[in-house]
Amino acid sequence: MIKIQENISLKPYNTFGVNVKAKYFTSVVLEKEILEILQSKRFGSMNKLILGGGSNILFTKNYDGLVIHYVEKGIRLVEENEKYVIIESSAGEIWNDVVSYCVENKYYGIENLSLIPGRVGAAPIQNIGAYGVEIKDVFESLEGINLESGEKKIYKKNECKFDYRDSIFKKELKGKFIITKVKLKLKKEKQFNLNYRSLNDYLGKANKEKLTIRRVRETVNKIRMSKLPDPQRFGNAGSFFKNPEVSEERFIELKKNFEEIVFFKLDGKKYKIPAGFLIEKCGYKGKRIGDVATYNRQALVIINMGRATGEQIKNFSQEIQKAVFDKFGIELTPEVNII
Ligand code: FAD
Ligand code: EPU
Repeated sequence: MIKIQENISLKPYNTFGVNVKAKYFTSVVLEKEILEILQSKRFGSMNKLILGGGSNILFTKNYDGLVIHYVEKGIRLVEENEKYVIIESSAGEIWNDVVSYCVENKYYGIENLSLIPGRVGAAPIQNIGAYGVEIKDVFESLEGINLESGEKKIYKKNECKFDYRDSIFKKELKGKFIITKVKLKLKKEKQFNLNYRSLNDYLGKANKEKLTIRRVRETVNKIRMSKLPDPQRFGNAGSFFKNPEVSEERFIELKKNFEEIVFFKLDGKKYKIPAGFLIEKCGYKGKRIGDVATYNRQALVIINMGRATGEQIKNFSQEIQKAVFDKFGIELTPEVNII
């Protein structure tokens, strides 16, 4: 029998540490409990929000419906040959524990995604990425339940419409599908991706024969800890905005004024530029209004210095969007799910 609680504070369940309430709240540890909820008279047709680690979400008001905290655990090896393995993880596993499992077993492919907070189920939703790797690079398929029809469905990689911080689950299927299992295909042969600038600064000159998966993970962790605030100390959800893509014309203009600009060349004469750079150039790095600020080591991260409300964080983010638009004519899109 599922246990449903009423008027629960969501403060411990979101890394921004925003204090809002859920009208109804349940922690689900078994997939079959989802079907129980969907078939129930009282909750079947109610608004529902699936919550993992709450590390990519900003609550601006109380949630007037049922929050389903999906925490089912389990990692299984489902296929193996001499070249690769396929592992299946339940959606409630902590993402970083899956990375740990792969590093311990020398399964190559997700070590650069080390220390990203949150649970496995949310990882494909925004196609998590860091240090030159995205989950789509190792993604095989996922399984879940359509919240409207109650039907189980499997989505293979080519059906997920993965893009930079995007997928079908952030678009057509937003809020309509609960992911319960994710399969990843990992290499057994040693192979690293060290192209990302800050990772290359540390490991570019390392002896590749001797370099271990564990060392790559530890280096990624070190870089992350030097740049990103610990949510236990300052509430945050990582990068608040996506890095924007700009045209070649706009890029050449920026490069003229800011020789030092870091960029990634994309296909079709487009350039991706760091939103943190633009925000910093607008004078917002480390800027604080009340209990909301940008982190003084990474302007793309908005932090809750104490008792900020979701509404105040949202207003601050809109002020940043306006400043960047007024100075550069570039629109920043939030990466964080604003509820
Ligand atoms: P939640 O915040 O709980 O949910 C996010 C969205 O997914 C919500 O819309 C929710 O409804 C939905 N959802 C969650 N679980 C399910 C499910 N099982 N089925 C269906 N829908 C679901 N992200 C990166 O990509 N790269 C980074 O380097 C990175 N660094 C970060 C650093 C810090 C300090 C923080 C706080 C965040 C960072 N993030 C990063 C963002 C975040 O960690 C990821 O987006 C992560 O995948 C979110 O997982 P979660 O379980 O916390 O999701
Ligand atoms: N920069 C500045 N000022 C700042 C911050 C950054 O000028 O205040 C410039 C620097 O030139 C730096 C460059 O931006 O070299 C890139 O910064 P960083 O390496 O920190 O990466 P990012 O582009 O800000 C992205 C992801 C992160 C991911 C890192 C590492 C997005 C929106 N963010 O950040 O993901 O961890 O790269 O790969 O793509 C997240 O999604 O929540 C997240 C943290």
